[in-house]
This record gives sequence, C-alpha cells and structure tokens, in this order.
Amino acid sequence: MDKMNFGLIGVGVMGQNLALNIERNGFSVAVYDRALDKVNEFTKGKASGKRIIGATSIESFLQQLERPRRIVLLVNAGKPVDDVIDGLRPQLGKGDIIIDGGNSFFLDTERRAADLEKHGIFFVGSGVSGGEEGALKGPSLMPGGAKEAYDIISPVLTKIAAHVNGEPCCTYIGPRGAGHYVKMVHNGIEYAIMQLICETYDILKTGYGLPAPEIAKIFDKWNQTELNSYLFEITSKVLNKIDDVTHKPLVDFILDTAEQKGTGKWTSQNAFDLGTPIPTINAAVESRMLSSFKDQRVKASRILRGPDAHPAEKEESMINEVRDALHASIIASYSQGMALMQAASAEYKYDLKVDQIAAIWRGGCIIRAKILEEIRQAYRRNPSLQNMMTDDYFSGTLNKLQAPWRRTVQIASGAGIPVLAMSASLSYYDAYRRERLPANLLQGQRDFFGAHTYRRIDKEGIFHTKWEE
Ligand code: 6PG
Repeated sequence: MDKMNFGLIGVGVMGQNLALNIERNGFSVAVYDRALDKVNEFTKGKASGKRIIGATSIESFLQQLERPRRIVLLVNAGKPVDDVIDGLRPQLGKGDIIIDGGNSFFLDTERRAADLEKHGIFFVGSGVSGGEEGALKGPSLMPGGAKEAYDIISPVLTKIAAHVNGEPCCTYIGPRGAGHYVKMVHNGIEYAIMQLICETYDILKTGYGLPAPEIAKIFDKWNQTELNSYLFEITSKVLNKIDDVTHKPLVDFILDTAEQKGTGKWTSQNAFDLGTPIPTINAAVESRMLSSFKDQRVKASRILRGPDAHPAEKEESMINEVRDALHASIIASYSQGMALMQAASAEYKYDLKVDQIAAIWRGGCIIRAKILEEIRQAYRRNPSLQNMMTDDYFSGTLNKLQAPWRRTVQIASGAGIPVLAMSASLSYYDAYRRERLPANLLQGQRDFFGAHTYRRIDKEGIFHTKWEE
C-alpha cells in the first residue's frame, strides 16, 4: 500500500476536521489517538471512503507514513504534548517533522524545538485559529520553527488554510516559538474584542433597555459597515437564538460567569515581561475573573450602591455613538496587540512581519475582520510604525471617533455599567497621545521616600532633592 502523506495525532473534533480538510485538498492521512475507539468511530464514520486510515499503535502509525514524516499533533496543550513527543521521539528519524497545532505556550514550544533539534527532528509550533469549522473549511495558520521544515510542509499548509482574494491565510511566522507567540497575541486580541462587544451589549441592554433580538439587529447592521467581522456575525446569532424550553432569548438564561483556558492571561503576563502596555487585553482577562466571582457579586449587590436605576433615553444618534466607541476601542485593541508583537520580535529575535500577520488574520480565524486589511496596509506603508493609532488612516478615524467614545464611557459610568475594556481603551488612547503625564509627581514621590532620583525637563543630569528638613 502507498505510504500516507500526512500523519495526525489527536482525533477530537478539531483533529477530525483538520484530517478531512487535508484529505479534501489531495493528501492522504494516517490518524492515531490513544483512545482507539475515537479512531475507529472516525475512520468508519466521517472518514469512510476517504484516503484516511486509522492506526492502532504509534508503531503502525509511523510505518504508514512517507518520509520525511509530517505529523500534526492536535492534543491538549501542556503535558499531553510532551507525552506524545516522548512516545514519538525514539522512533523518529533525522528530518522528520512534528507540527504542534494546539494552543501551546510559546516558551514550551521553544523548549521542545531545542530538545528535538538535538535529535535532528524538526518541531513546528503552529497557531491554528478558526475553531471546529475553521479546521474543516480553512483555518488561519501561524506556523513557526525552522524555515527548512516550513518549506517542506508549506504546500500542504497553504492549501488547507482559508484564502482571501486568492491569498492563503498562512505564512511563515518566524523561528522557534514565534508561531505560538503570535497565536497567543491573536487570542489576547480575541479576548479584548469579545469583552468590548459584551460591554456594548450591556450598554444597549442595561443602559438603553433593549431586548436581545433588538441588539442582534443592531450588530447585524453594524456588521454591514467597516466594522464587519466574524465576532459581530456570531454575536448577532447568539443574541437571536431562542431557547427551546422557555421560548425566550437563550442568552438571558446563560449563567454570567466567563471561563478561560489561559491564552489571554499568558498575553498579559508576557506583556508585563516585555514592558508593553496592553490595558484593553488586561481588562478583558480581569473582566472574566470578576465575572467568575458570582457568589461575591450577588452578596455585594445588596451592600454596595449604584446609581438610581433609570435606563438612559434611547435615541438613534446615541446608539451610533456606542458603535463609534466600540469601533475606536477595537482599533486601540489591535494597536496594543500589534505593538506587543513588535516588542516580542525585537526581544526574541522573531523577525515578525506584522503586515503579513494582519494579512493571514483576514480570513479563517476568530478575529477575522474587515479592519485587518487596513491594518495590513498601515504596516505596509510604514513597517517601523511604532503604534498603529498614529498611522494616517487610523489617527484620522480616532480623531473623528474620540468625542462619541468619551460620551459613551461617560454614559456607561453614569449608569453604573462596568466598561473595564472600553474605558481602558480610551485611557490608553489618552495616555499615548498626551505629551505630558503626571509621572513627574510620581518621580518626586519616589525620590522622596527612596532617593530614587529624577531627571528635569530644563537641564541634563540626574537629580535628588532633600524634600524636607
Ligand atoms: C481560535 C480560538 C481557540 C479557542 C480559544 C478559546 O483561535 O480558534 O482562540 O483557540 O477557542 O482558545 O479560549 P478560551 O477558552 O480561553 O476563551
């Protein structure tokens, strides 16, 4: 029997869909999972009649693959990835390629790549975004690792990825952990935009008293504008869903505690390491944490007072202002994410091409949106752009949106609606654009209690003052 072109370990829904996608694009696939029943069910079910065969052991799986072996892992991040690699390594040969398609932490990817390199085995850490549907129909792929290995697998990756205007949503990201780093930042931006959408929903619901189906219509309308994005599209579908049991909007019956698997938190932790402010992403992570304190919130709601309940007067123009505030906050979120990647590129020597990253996020992934074409153009115009907000197109947009942005944050805070992410976005904008910040006072305080010294605006040098007798 002919050897199979590709191997895939981890036959969950993502793994199954990716295998079907690879096969549909003309490559045969051998699949393996520790849970053999999953392999069986898949090969006899969705994969039957296709050039996908199941293996009952790692040994037979490896025997079925052509060389160099190209094996994609779709197992849970963390220890399961190390376990699978430990099982594979003794049986792999020089030039074989392992591709980790999970949401692995980028420093784990760096460690694994270095270990495997000693054995002549390539390790490609690839971000895969787009969820189950993306895996099947075309995800956005962010592969990082040895360029030599990428060149061998790129004919397959660029075929199975989503395409926008004929361009694949897949490009070589950079060495070692670069691919997983970029996927981590993708998820940080994903957290930020999801939280901003939720805060907007809260303003429309709590502030303007609109029911879920009305808000769905508003998101649908906004989705026809330059705000067009996958997350708006699904938000409207979630808001429109009617519960089978109560025959009312399902969203109103979902418990308000958000969960998370950790990629947003990693983005925040890493941004602190790199000294790069990403306040909207941080606010999004913290909003999920606050939401999880349901019991405490219920108790506090009886102790701490908010403003007297009075839904704000709803006018068409005010709803448009909420849209403007969301739009500006989304620009601020992308600006933070792009700036973080530039800082990481310098720190880790990833040589990231942020315009190309924006390009491969235009399709397939969760944050795919019309704005990404503008982002790509901005970094093409000026590859060393320090902050996206200062690009001509985006500064022009923000200068127009800043007034309604402020009014929306004021209305929310007046109505007692928490807008951690939206207000963090506005303060990021204001802090970044202010020539002078109150850090002069902070330096004075530091010098007062710790003789930490300060610099002056009117002469060179380091100064210390004896602040009191
Ligand atoms: C994607 C998603 C995907 C996953 C998130 C969910 O790009 O396809 O980001 O990777 O759905 O990791 O993350 P949380 O569970 O932390 O929300």
